[in-house]
Amino acid sequence: MSNRIQAVRGMNDVVPPASGLWQYVRDRTREVVAAYGYGEVLLPVVERTELFKRAVGEVTDVVEKEMYTFEDRSGESLALRPEGTAGCVRAGIEQGLLHNQQQRVWYFGPMFRHERPQAGRYRQFHQIGVEAYGMAGPDIDVEVIALGARLLRRLGFQKLRLELNSLGTPACRAAYRDALVAWLRQHETELDPDSQRRIERNPLRVLDSKVPETQAALADAPSILDHLDDASRAHFDGLQQGLSDLGIDYSLNPRLVRGLDYYSHGVFEWISSELGAQGTVCAGGRYDGLVEQLGGGAVPAVGFASGVERLVLLLQEQAVAASAAATAPQLYVCTLDEAAQRVARRECERLRDAQPQLRVLVHAGGGSLKSQMRRANASGARYALVLGSDEVAAGAVQVKSLRGEGGPELISWPELPSHLATRLAASPLMESQA
Ligand code: HAM
Repeated sequence: MSNRIQAVRGMNDVVPPASGLWQYVRDRTREVVAAYGYGEVLLPVVERTELFKRAVGEVTDVVEKEMYTFEDRSGESLALRPEGTAGCVRAGIEQGLLHNQQQRVWYFGPMFRHERPQAGRYRQFHQIGVEAYGMAGPDIDVEVIALGARLLRRLGFQKLRLELNSLGTPACRAAYRDALVAWLRQHETELDPDSQRRIERNPLRVLDSKVPETQAALADAPSILDHLDDASRAHFDGLQQGLSDLGIDYSLNPRLVRGLDYYSHGVFEWISSELGAQGTVCAGGRYDGLVEQLGGGAVPAVGFASGVERLVLLLQEQAVAASAAATAPQLYVCTLDEAAQRVARRECERLRDAQPQLRVLVHAGGGSLKSQMRRANASGARYALVLGSDEVAAGAVQVKSLRGEGGPELISWPELPSHLATRLAASPLMESQA
């Protein structure tokens, strides 16, 4: 019997080297959101349970089956956030950011859903989310999708499929719902039991069924795209035109309905065929009614969220190798004795002052030069700096390439920053990613 305490099922540790990929995702995200002028929001992980019931919807899997809900010590019902949009709207109203204003914000953080864990599906997972408020036209939908497309491209993904649908206004959806329920009742025997149960409670979710027989039976089901009113149709046409203008490919999927109740008009998902059943790496859409529903004004909104674990899995799958290098040290400093070690520590502090971007790992724990060089190679560093009594006496250090870029050179400490800057810039190899 082991007395070790293990992590909670479905909640993962992220440690090196995989955490390097996380940092890569985070860094690329920061660049891309900044390029579109989005500001970061940092929001609580815990909110009142009522928020998600009202925002996500009582009759959704997320709220009915997957929320981590608990009473705190004062008897209040709280929930670990299952998604970021509800809290973002709550905060936007509370902080006075949404009244007669336009806002573009983004967030990165953990979300919690009590789902059955499998590859790409966890109970604690992380989302990168982007939300835009106060803009009603399809131009902002296009911007949000273009931002997502750029992020995915920037991460190195080429083979993702963008699917698009429109859910129209609540009135269109209600009319469609009636038509769909009537059709589903007529075809009830062809559906799986889960889908049969959903006919009354949440018929649109039947369209989402993963059961192949049900999917086949749905081939002739009515399409929501035939139930859009003129304004919804115009909005959707504008969105498609905008995507075409930017050369963003998409396919229409009238069965794309999303699992959260707050959507209206355009909804979209980016799907990878390399992640099996959990292939959706990014998903979102417009949610014009939500701000009002949560007590704010009539503020139109659109956004998306991307699952970071899935992005990292895809990076590993597609061996986007350069990405890991962004966090590997560039220099590994080896020393032959204690005096050299003390000089190295002091000089490397100066080096970090001179070049704050440089990644310098100073060996600690002693050992032979051979074993230090072995560690230097394993670290992924590009250069080893080697320092013994001769170098200390000369006020210099040996710079050795670990990638076969010529023999060692003796460089004085004062010259080192510019020497390294030239060498690292001359052959950017991986530094272009950093
Ligand atoms: P969602 O489709 O529920 O939408 O989640 C967005 C993404 O989060 C999914 O496409 C997936 O990549 C990731 N994800 C969801 N559940 C899990 C899980 N259990 N394990 C790993 N990854 C997961 C939303 O959450 C909306 N708030 C998106 C949005 C923002 N719509 C408008 N603004």
